Amino acid sequence: MADNRPIGVFDSGIGGLTVLREIWDKCPNESTVYFGDNSRAPYGTKSRSTVIKYSLQNMRFLESKNVKMIVIACNTASAYAYDELKAKSRVPVIEVVTPGADAACRATKSGKIGIIATGATVSTGVYSKAIYARAKELGMEDIDITSRACPLFVSLAEEGWWNTEVTRLVAREYLKPIKDAGVDTLVMACTHYPLLTEVISEVMGDGVTLVNTGKATAKVVKEALKGMEGSGDSVKEFYTSDEPEMFESVASPFLGRGLPSGTKHYSTDRFEA
Ligand code: DGL
Repeated sequence: MADNRPIGVFDSGIGGLTVLREIWDKCPNESTVYFGDNSRAPYGTKSRSTVIKYSLQNMRFLESKNVKMIVIACNTASAYAYDELKAKSRVPVIEVVTPGADAACRATKSGKIGIIATGATVSTGVYSKAIYARAKELGMEDIDITSRACPLFVSLAEEGWWNTEVTRLVAREYLKPIKDAGVDTLVMACTHYPLLTEVISEVMGDGVTLVNTGKATAKVVKEALKGMEGSGDSVKEFYTSDEPEMFESVASPFLGRGLPSGTKHYSTDRFEA
């Protein structure tokens, strides 16, 4: 029998929409409830305890919407809070790090992999750990990882400066050590970075595969839905902890299609963490 409960997806704000769009593409029969914690964003500059607290509150809100699965569509929240959420959730929880690590291992030929992310995600080292663990499972040796925090990419993506000279300059600066390391695969381990794909790809040059963790995560979501698939007539709901109009005015390019509409306001800070 079909399970038409929605999938709950949350992020610190709009970035998770780059993951949501991939879930929509891979799982067109599914209803979704998206929560963007815009009033408390960004998460990438916050402490571990704060991100865990916010993530637990967001999860409780989504559970109150009777979701069948929760997707942490934020690399920082996945890096800091996945273990906590998995232990406390009433439904399966999917994060973005393991799928990204798997995709990177499958893409690399030389074993030289780059990771770009927020300062918080890089500082946890979870991507490196996940890549080493996956490489071991796949029997790969000689993995060499170079990581770099690229915090300005978040603002550039939100500003809509996806393919401008400023972004190119910033990218050249940030990506220099990764380029110098000779990577053949680069994980875009932040929800905002897929919007800068053109510039990142141009700076890294041909022959470097960019891994979009949202795409990799959507495949895992589809797999995890086996036995509880929805049957269509899907409903897409949006909530934000800030002004719905602000959310909708910046959301469209992240979602990659028409504007979301009917976004409602909700503050998850009323939930116990
Ligand atoms: N969504 C965050 C991530 O993927 C980026 C934005 C933020 O720092 O909140 O890490």
